[in-house]
Amino acid sequence: MLELTLGRRADGQAITTAGRENPHIFVDGISGAGKSFKLKRLAEDAVCQGAQVIAFDYTGDFAAYMPPEGLPLRRMDVSSEELQINPLSPASGAPASVRGQRLVHLLLAGYRLGTRACVDLMDAAVQYLESGPEIPTVSGLVEYIEQVCPMTRGLASALEPLKGLSRLITSGPEEINVKLNLPGLLILEFRQVESAWMRQLMIELLLRVIWDSRTSTAAGNPNPLILLLDECQNLNWRKDGMPVRILREGRKFEIGGWFASQWVENECAKAALREAAVQMHFRQDQDAATKLARTMASNNREKRERYTRLIRSLPRGSFIVENPCCGICLGHM
Ligand SMILES: Nc1ncnc2c1ncn2[C@@H]1O[C@H](COP(=O)(O)OP(=O)(O)OP(=O)(O)O)[C@@H](O)[C@H]1O
Ligand SMILES: [Mg+2]
Repeated sequence: MLELTLGRRADGQAITTAGRENPHIFVDGISGAGKSFKLKRLAEDAVCQGAQVIAFDYTGDFAAYMPPEGLPLRRMDVSSEELQINPLSPASGAPASVRGQRLVHLLLAGYRLGTRACVDLMDAAVQYLESGPEIPTVSGLVEYIEQVCPMTRGLASALEPLKGLSRLITSGPEEINVKLNLPGLLILEFRQVESAWMRQLMIELLLRVIWDSRTSTAAGNPNPLILLLDECQNLNWRKDGMPVRILREGRKFEIGGWFASQWVENECAKAALREAAVQMHFRQDQDAATKLARTMASNNREKRERYTRLIRSLPRGSFIVENPCCGICLGHM
């Protein structure tokens, strides 16, 4: 597991992630408080320790980012043909039934499908894969279903979402053409994806493919993988969505989720983000500071008031971190 330096106390002692029970980080604070700045420094630190960090840059925050010399950096535009995703790819070595399941998993990122539709689609995908296409693809499956399969009600309701998915992704020979064990920083750019809905869907899709690909590697995962999701209030916080899954299960596969937001209101998001072992709070306004202090100090009124004053008055770059066993500590960069 990585050991990252979050900052220093007033006496110069380092505050690190050592001993925390999961690799997840949640950062909150008012605009301009230093959240993204901090996450970038942590990402650089993680890469130097051999991690792969994938930054989902849907806000353009990394557009002008200059890495320190020697840091391996790659940028990829998610809507260009440069990025290829293929849940049906034989390259993973997974049996046809597993690849059929991965396809359904992917489809459920953006569409609601009933059990019948999922089962019928899975059967059709297995049949298609066993029919021996040279490179099986989602659009190949659409054609196969239209031309060969008896059209059940389940299959008919899966067909439109399947066509939607085939328009959205470029299929290649691999499950995803991003090597998931290479130390370095990969910035995924979303410049061409205008609508918030489409962005959310693309992020969810990518998280699913990355998750499936990473967790199915039998050989284990030598390098930690960090998924950096700034402005995380924009994500899909459904209970069956990927951000929740990463926070709940990522630890088992050395997948860390790093999330930042000014303030999160969504109850499901709040509950999931509380799972992150590192909770870093930068300066907040009065309203958010009061709410935050209430969750941190619950019934202790004196503590609540002290925390509220502290959170309101943090200068840029300073933060408080909640300790696993006792209270909080104040840090700066
Ligand atoms: N510790 C720091 N030292 C020097 N500059 C900093 C520090 N923290 C932040 N900055 C600078 O302050 C500006 C705002 O910081 P940052 O982008 O990290 O804010 P933010 O909390 O992510 O805000 P937003 O919620 O609007 O995204 C940036 O130009 C950043 O480079
Ligand atoms: Mg920011």
